This record gives sequence, structure tokens and C-alpha cells, in this order.
Amino acid sequence: MTSSDRAHRLQFLNLSANDAEALRALRPLFEQRLDEVVDAFYAHLLAFPETAQLLADRTTVERLKRLQREYLLRITDGCFDEHYFEERLRIGRTHERVGLSPKWYLLAYHQFFQLLCPLIEKFYERNAAQGRRAMLALHKVFMLDASLAMEAYIASDRYRHLQQLESIVNDSADAIFSLDADHRVRTWNRAAERLFGWTAMEILGQHVSVLIPPELLHTGELMRIDEALRRHNHYQAQTVRLTKDGRRIPVELTVSLMRDPQGQIIGRSVILRDIGERQRLEEARLQAERLATIGAMSAKLAHEIRNPLSSVLLNLELVRDELNTLARQPGAEVAECHALLKSIDAEVRRIQRVTEDYLQFARLPKARRERIHLNELLAQGLSFLQSLFDATGVELQTDLDPRLPPIHADENQLWQAILNLIRNAIEAMPSGGTLTITTQFAPPDTVRLTIRDTGKGMTEAEQRKIFRPFYSTKAGGTGLGLPLTQQIISEHEGRIRCESTPGVGTTFFIELKPAAETNYG
Ligand code: HEM
Repeated sequence: MTSSDRAHRLQFLNLSANDAEALRALRPLFEQRLDEVVDAFYAHLLAFPETAQLLADRTTVERLKRLQREYLLRITDGCFDEHYFEERLRIGRTHERVGLSPKWYLLAYHQFFQLLCPLIEKFYERNAAQGRRAMLALHKVFMLDASLAMEAYIASDRYRHLQQLESIVNDSADAIFSLDADHRVRTWNRAAERLFGWTAMEILGQHVSVLIPPELLHTGELMRIDEALRRHNHYQAQTVRLTKDGRRIPVELTVSLMRDPQGQIIGRSVILRDIGERQRLEEARLQAERLATIGAMSAKLAHEIRNPLSSVLLNLELVRDELNTLARQPGAEVAECHALLKSIDAEVRRIQRVTEDYLQFARLPKARRERIHLNELLAQGLSFLQSLFDATGVELQTDLDPRLPPIHADENQLWQAILNLIRNAIEAMPSGGTLTITTQFAPPDTVRLTIRDTGKGMTEAEQRKIFRPFYSTKAGGTGLGLPLTQQIISEHEGRIRCESTPGVGTTFFIELKPAAETNYG
């Protein structure tokens, strides 16, 4: 401790030369009465199990009484030099080393004070003012000593160890928090703040149910965890948790019981790991495998089906011509033949469409990206679709952010991706509805496109599958539209996700990066 540290501390306490003088004047009293003070102090310590257990050994007590006496006498030197500070820090370190809790240590200063005050009062019976000055000076010294003792505790290995543990918990990438016996949040680390969006200030004291999706609460998730903890002290599972803004996140959950030294349950510790990214990577891997299979299949389809299909259509045309010639002969009845031909034609064209979808998927050309303005792309594309919106009873609303920076994209492919989403939206609203298309710039580097419908919506199980090839909820759908959209967006280094509520509608969010040379200012 530097000399200026020491000086500041004495100034803060206002420990003056007068105080030193008042303390020195106590010396004869201390010399005369310290034995009984120290005896009374130890009698007090022995009356409490937590302090008595440290004094079980008779010789320790005797040694300590002597050291205590010296300690108190030293105060009446009235000299608070470097040596004094060092000695007090050492005493603090000894107490920390013997395992004395700082709370008993601090309370003991009061005990000393309480024992000494009546003696001082008596000593200054005829000069009460001097007695008060002496007591005040003694109080200052005890506070100084207590602060030095605390410093020794704080610098101790055990405390540093606790601090290290605290920083491990705080800096952990996993959300770590604890609950009391009533399931209320007691501690909350930084990763928990990031994962859930609740700050520690907001969440402390709240019931843990605010983090659990209602459907899991209703099906008894908390009770299941409690039941498992009763049997194994420990619970581990993959589940879903709820963020402050209502998002559901897949997590790996570990809950353990916390007990006090007597074995009583005092709460639970909870560790949560966000496994959304892991699941997304796994899904992306599966997706890549599926896409590779489709690619191979589609190339084969092109050869095996596409050409024969064209000739079937051509021949159908020829048969239709023959039929028309026949129809001109008297008595010929060709109406039914025409109807049959029409239906064959429709079916063949359907197969052709499916084949084209596959082909498009397999042969998605490498994106040719250039600097484009998404708002312009949308304005232009949507104007061509107006008649489609009119015919399907869909009202289009747009809100395009004028601050939107240009992006680096293949205009045709991006429009194809957007068009797929618009088509899906229209199909989800068979009796009309509202389609809202929004663009938004989220500085510094996100261009967001949102496509929202008021259609029939999807369940969570459906939402998980929509980007899988061949998954379709529509009659006659190939299940390739959304995978194609996703592939285009990911080739543009963007992200696409969807939120949907059955009966309310679906929203797709696409996030893209602004073109590199954009000046955001
Ligand atoms: C105002 C409060 C206290 C003061 C001023 C005080 C003073 C001292 C002093 C001067 C020493 C010798 C340290 C050394 O030379 O390194 C010591 C050691 C010790 N004190 Fe205290 N003490 C206080 C409170 C307590 C309390 C509440 C306990 C509870 C039992 C306690 C238990 C001990 C023990 C176990 C040792 C170590 C003894 C050994 O050397 O084996 N002290 N104390």
C-alpha cells in the first residue's frame, strides 16, 4: 500500500493528531483493564458455535488472548504508520486463512467497542467530553482496522478464486442462471442476457415460467423437471425456450439442484445452450445432400421424359387435326374425343411443368450478380402482377424504405425467389387477403425484405419442413419452389426465415447484405 493510499484513508476517516492524542491518553486504562476485556471477548466468541469451533484448542485461546491484548495496546500508540497498516493487513490474512467468515470478524469489532466504551466512560467520569473524544477516536481506528482486514480478505486466494468462478460464469457462451426454491430467478449471466433479451435487472425475481413457451408450461414441463430432479438431482434435455420478444429458441437444458451446507435444497442452477445454429447447420447439410440427389435425378428426367413429352404433345396436336378433318364428314360424332384429348393434353402439360421445375432446380445457373436496387426491382416486378392480384382478390400493400442501399444480386434469380414467395402467399389466401411487402435498411449491414400474407398460416411442424425439397402442402405442388428460393438467397449470402401462425398468416424475412462499395453515411 502506498503512502498516499494510507494518507487518503486517514483523511477520509478524519483521523487527526487530536484523535492520536486521545488514544495515547487511554494507555493507562488499557494496561489496567485489558485482561478482563479480552476474557469477556473470548467468552462471547465461545458462546456461538461458528466462532467457538475455531477456538476448540486451549493453547490457541491462550496465545490469542495475548495477541489480542497486544493488538489493543498497539492502538494506544496513536501511530498509524506503514508498519501499523502492514500489521493490520497481516491480521486480516490470518483470519482469512483460518477460515473465519468476514461477517463474524466485522461484528467482533463492535464487541470490542461495546466492552471498551463503559470503561472509557468510567475513566473519564469527570470529563465526559474527553471521554466522547476518546470513544470517537477508538471507533475510527476500529473502522480503519476493519477496512484493512476486508482488504486482506478481498486479496486472498479464496476470494480471487470466487471472482474467477464468477468471471467464468459471466463470460460463458452458455446462458447460466440460478433459481431460488420458488423458481424465481436469482442470478443471470451475460450470455443469458444475450440469448433471452432480458437484462439481469429486469428478470431477477421473476418466475422462471416467463422463459417457457405456454404450450410446454401447460403440458407440465416444470413438473417433469422437478420430478426428475427429485430422483436424480440432475436433469438434461433438448427443449425450447421463449425470448423476451416472444421468439422460440431450441436449447439444450441442464438443471441441477443447489443445496446449502446442511443439504437443504436452496434452488436450482440452469445452463442453457442455444442449439439453433447446430440444428440449422445439420438441416443445411441434409438440404445439400437432398439437393445433390435432385440435381442428378433432374438431369436424368431431362433426357428420359422431356423429349418424349414434347413428341406426345406434338402427336396430340396431329390427332386433333385428324379429328377436325373427320368431324367434317356427315354423321361423325367427335365431341367426346375432343374432351378426352383435352384432358390428356392438360395432364401431359402438368407433367411438363413438373419436369421444368426440376430442370430449373438442377440447372440453376451461377448467379450473375451486379449492383441493383431492390426497391426498383420490386416496383417493376409488382406492376406486372397487378392483374393477378386483382383476379385473386389480393390487396397489395408496400412500404419500401427510401434509405435502402443497393445490393449485389442477380436480378432475374432474386425476382424468381421473390415471385415464388408471392405465389405461395396468393395461394395461401384462396378467398383473398392482404399481401404486405416491406423493405427496410437495418444499419450497418442488413437489407431486409419482408413478405407477409394474411392467409391460412402454418403449424410449427409445417414450418420446419417448408424448405425441404418435395415437401408441399398444395395439391399438385412439386415442393421445389421454396427450396429454390432458399438456394437463391443463400447463393446471395443472405438468410431467409419464416414466421407463421395458423389462421393468421405467414411472414417471410429475407436478409441481404448491401453492395460492398456502399457508403452508408
Ligand atoms: C476485532 C476482531 C478481531 C481481532 C482484532 C483479532 C485479532 C487477532 C490477532 C491479532 C491474531 C493474530 C494474527 C497474527 O499474528 O497473524 C488473531 C488470530 C486469530 N483469530 Fe482473531 N481477532 C478478531 C476476531 C476474531 C474472531 C471473531 C475469531 C473467531 C473465532 C478469531 C479467531 C482467530 C483465530 C482462530 C486466529 C489464529 C490463531 C492461531 O494462530 O492459531 N478472531 N486474531
